[in-house]
Amino acid sequence: MAKYSIAWMPGDGIGNDVMQATRLVLDAMKLDAEYVPCDIGWEFWCKEGNPLPDRSVKVLNSTTCGLFGAITSKPQDEAKDELAPELKGKGLVYFSPIVKLRQMFNLHTNMRPCKSYEGNPLNYRGTRLANPDSRDIMIDQVVFRENTEGMYGGVEFFPVPEPVYTALCANPKMKPWKDKGLENVALSTRIVSVQGCTNICRQAFEYAKRTGRKRVTLVEKPNVLRETGGLMTRIFRKLAEEYKPAGIWADEANIDAICMWMFKNPQDYSVLVAENMFGDIVSDLCAGLVGGLGFAPSANLGDRYAVFEPTHGSAPKYAGQYKVNPHAMLLTAKMMLDWLGGGAEKDKAARLESAIARVIKEGKVKTYDMGGKNTTIEVAEEVAKHAG
Ligand code: NAI
Ligand code: MG
Repeated sequence: MAKYSIAWMPGDGIGNDVMQATRLVLDAMKLDAEYVPCDIGWEFWCKEGNPLPDRSVKVLNSTTCGLFGAITSKPQDEAKDELAPELKGKGLVYFSPIVKLRQMFNLHTNMRPCKSYEGNPLNYRGTRLANPDSRDIMIDQVVFRENTEGMYGGVEFFPVPEPVYTALCANPKMKPWKDKGLENVALSTRIVSVQGCTNICRQAFEYAKRTGRKRVTLVEKPNVLRETGGLMTRIFRKLAEEYKPAGIWADEANIDAICMWMFKNPQDYSVLVAENMFGDIVSDLCAGLVGGLGFAPSANLGDRYAVFEPTHGSAPKYAGQYKVNPHAMLLTAKMMLDWLGGGAEKDKAARLESAIARVIKEGKVKTYDMGGKNTTIEVAEEVAKHAG
């Protein structure tokens, strides 16, 4: 029996392309794993009315961890239109299977490293004044994004049920919407908890302590989101005191301000921590600074289970063309190897990252986004040559 069993979730679109490329590299590295096919995504919504079929939940429940490519998600009206004819009109409601999976398995922590690799033609070169020689600005940041609560918690209403509306209207600030009428109002909520905020902040500080990083920045907006942002900020400050003796400097930035500061002085940031939506936003910004979505891996971490996925989506216009950059997915596999732990797997993770860095630096084999003409598979083969 193999040492690990990995739920294998290519999903939709380029998810298939990059997962195939990754399998090639993992096989070359002789990872002792069984890969268990796991259906997820738009295809299964259209065919079966469920983007995360029960059989897939069983696979997830019986494996060591999951590796996920990308899925296609569309708004509710389009989702209903694309259902198989026999499933139409049955009241089926589309949900994002990756959001559901994160909640179902309590994968509370989304870790998103953004790191520049030497020689990447897409490395950020800063603003002209900040960087008159136009040299690459080398970035090495890790975003910790709360993964199950906040704006993406999924508690939304349209139409807003009467009791909810009535309760909201007890707040005098509801007047403008009360005047517009119940039928004209949609509601998305931002619910956070002491447990959720404490966990994500602690993960960020612990990571900084473990890896010798000296700065942890909270990304919030407590001056406007006074209750949810306020709670997160108070918890962050309390934990910051605890980690001060370890030499970790904690600071805070508003989500809008950091979009500007990150652009001007990205090298100043190291570990960032944020609620679900703000973490989503800031991590895409960080990804842009290290070359875009082709370089942005992520891990959804729980206490016992984890699912690893690149930050990018299914890029339908490139589906099946083997054109897109596999580095994000390969760096994702590297995170999985690190998580699997054990000396042997940690060695493999380090070997894989060096191989990726080498292929980027040599610049001979690269996909379109890096100015090359190679296919997804050719890049993976080149990585496999050095990692295997
Ligand atoms: P996307 O990430 O799929 O693609 C946006 C653009 O980024 C692409 O057109 C391409 O130019 C570039 N890109 C993405 N990955 C790349 C790679 N590996 N190499 C080179 N270039 C790459 O985002 P978009 O277009 O907003 O969404 C497409 C679909 O993906 C939607 O249905 C969306 O809901 C879904 N999505 C799924 C995610 C997931 O599975 N976790 C995350 C984000 C979007
Ligand atoms: Mg995103």
